[in-house]
Amino acid sequence: MESERGVVLLCVTGSISAYRAADVARELMRSGFGVQCVLTRAAQHFVTPELFTWLTGRPAVHDMFEEPRPGGMAHIDLARQASLFLCAPASAHTLAKMALGLADDLVGAMYLAYHGPTVVAPAMNPSMWDHPAVQANVSILQERGTHFVMPESGTVACGEVGEGKLASVEAIVEEALAALGTGMSMAGLHVVITSGPTREPIDPVRFIGNRSSGKMGHALARAALDRGAKVTLISGPTSLPDPAGADTQHVETAAEMARAAREAFQHCDLFVGAAAVADFRPKKVSGRKIKRGDAAISLSLEPNEDIIAGLAAVKDRQVLVGFAAESDDLVKNARHKLTAKGLDIIVANDITDMHSGFDTDTNRVTLLFKDGRTEELPLLSKREVAERVLDAVIPMLGR
Ligand code: PMT
Repeated sequence: MESERGVVLLCVTGSISAYRAADVARELMRSGFGVQCVLTRAAQHFVTPELFTWLTGRPAVHDMFEEPRPGGMAHIDLARQASLFLCAPASAHTLAKMALGLADDLVGAMYLAYHGPTVVAPAMNPSMWDHPAVQANVSILQERGTHFVMPESGTVACGEVGEGKLASVEAIVEEALAALGTGMSMAGLHVVITSGPTREPIDPVRFIGNRSSGKMGHALARAALDRGAKVTLISGPTSLPDPAGADTQHVETAAEMARAAREAFQHCDLFVGAAAVADFRPKKVSGRKIKRGDAAISLSLEPNEDIIAGLAAVKDRQVLVGFAAESDDLVKNARHKLTAKGLDIIVANDITDMHSGFDTDTNRVTLLFKDGRTEELPLLSKREVAERVLDAVIPMLGR
């Protein structure tokens, strides 16, 4: 436990989505945090303390009067050791207790005893969520500086449709990591990131593309924004929302991405190429949809320009970070790309691992530095990979 980066107090309250707190706990542990779970009485109608005890390796607590050590008080001891108070899911009742400062159970008492960053992810029936009493409590907590991961729209357990579903595990963990302020500041720095796939048209309806979802590049953008950087995100087509606060430029082809990258590069401090750029494009793009016939057809392809290698050739003070998705000889192939493209760091993804690489929420990467150093990271959320990449880059930014 000594190597933990801090302890998150994860308060689980009465909601049918309480089981998802287990995934939140697991992701936070994957990011290097210890997780101490505290369950309300209502939560125990949906999940058991044992689930969280086994998962986290720390006894999940629920009794206000249990002594963690002889003479100790659970709410004070737990509050003292915590780096973050995270309530997920948060019921309407718990929100009200927090807003009023009621201390009639362990979660309420701990909330009052704790004075650090607080994140709340509400979940409830949409009519309850809409109620002015609940909204007033949310406003009170927001004014106090509580970070909210707002509920999503959809069909909730009772069949009603509307806002009230617990936010995604990814969104909750991301907000938790941001509130923990785990990273070194990047205030005053301009970061340019490419993300997602490119599409190279064959005709008006078909294209050559790839499986990149943009999750890695967008996670980098959000991590840099949370550290105070100015962020330009050059994104190929993805289904992800634009990160709030970033200047997001939408492009489709490698040529469009190259143009946008060249323009933004001139004024940036750090360029990160997380996009999966098509290496080739059809030599001729048909203006009309190619009709199906019996005869085989062939596509003639020509190479796209190498965006990041082109930038490295004209770089001034900028630090350049590339990604490499490899299925064999991970380190050897990635190191070859690092040198051939003139990069400072390359992040090698092992795409043979089903939890790593394209369109996954997690990634297993090795960082290769131009001075020969290598840093192998365990399987982490893409947000945490982004944090580790930024941690590695900041000392190279020569401020
Ligand atoms: O988007 P996700 O679903 O989250 O998936 C993430 C990812 C797997 C796409 C990403 O993490 C990743 O590995 N991106 C690089 C994919 C790759 O194999 O790139 P490459 O080996 O073709 O290129 C190496 C580097 O050169 C990359 O930084 C790439 O952006 C850059 N490049 C490549 C070709 C090109 N024409 N121009 C470039 O700038």
